[in-house]
Amino acid sequence: MKNIKNIKKCLFPAAGYGTRFLPATKAIPKEMLPILTKPLIQYAVEEAKRAGMDTMAIVTGRGKKAIEDHFDISYELEHQIKGTTKEHYLTDIRSLMDSVTFTYVRQVAMKGLGDAILTGRSLIGDEPFAVVLADDLCISSSHGVLSQMIEVYKKHGKSVVAIETIDPGDTGKYGIIDGTEISPNLYQITDMVEKPSPANAPSDMAIIGRYILTPDIFDILKQTKPGVGGEVQITDALLQLAKKGEVLGLHFDGRRFDCGSIDGFVEATNYFASKL
Ligand code: G1P
Repeated sequence: MKNIKNIKKCLFPAAGYGTRFLPATKAIPKEMLPILTKPLIQYAVEEAKRAGMDTMAIVTGRGKKAIEDHFDISYELEHQIKGTTKEHYLTDIRSLMDSVTFTYVRQVAMKGLGDAILTGRSLIGDEPFAVVLADDLCISSSHGVLSQMIEVYKKHGKSVVAIETIDPGDTGKYGIIDGTEISPNLYQITDMVEKPSPANAPSDMAIIGRYILTPDIFDILKQTKPGVGGEVQITDALLQLAKKGEVLGLHFDGRRFDCGSIDGFVEATNYFASKL
């Protein structure tokens, strides 16, 4: 019988440079770019909170101070708007800050997503945890993508990645999986390849930026050699677990906006604007 624990911690790798959004990201972390009035990282933290998590573990890097400031009290601002008609603009962020804890660690060198997750080990410890890449902004008409993934984890006790069918020409942008459908929309993953060319891709099912990981991933990451792009890839580490039948892929119910690309960012902005 597996020891299935509650997932209370969510890791947010947020140390990347955001070069696709230069010059906007010269002095501002890409995670702070807003869709309407809310930065991407806040959407991500809210999704994790809705999924029942209470500790938000953020892996930052140089130039990312704005993220810490965003989730902290700005005394001057609070003082200025207290009692005015503008106070309500801070209601959501205040209640978020009151209900969860933020922890931080700095990734010293940008050695890839796998290395960022390994850097987060000191914040996570020896328990299963979620990972959210804030530039994949997810919405869902039912419950959130992370909540759907936690349900799967609770049932099977295995690592879970969120997957989406993509245009076969785009495989080079994602981790691509192969697997067998074991129940509707749920795959037992048998292979995973980071950013393959369309000719070498095992399928058109891509991993998107949501993971539930069991803590054994940390020791595997420690041994994982740099892969595609000279970076330590979480996909390569997860493949070790997948070979033992320990990784599931969930074709989630919902929609993802790739806010790491200009097109996706504009789509997300238009979508949220249409809901105002
Ligand atoms: C990362 C992962 C990749 C995954 C993608 C989802 O790539 O390495 O496997 O498909 O996130 O957004 P990145 O977008 O950081 O290059």
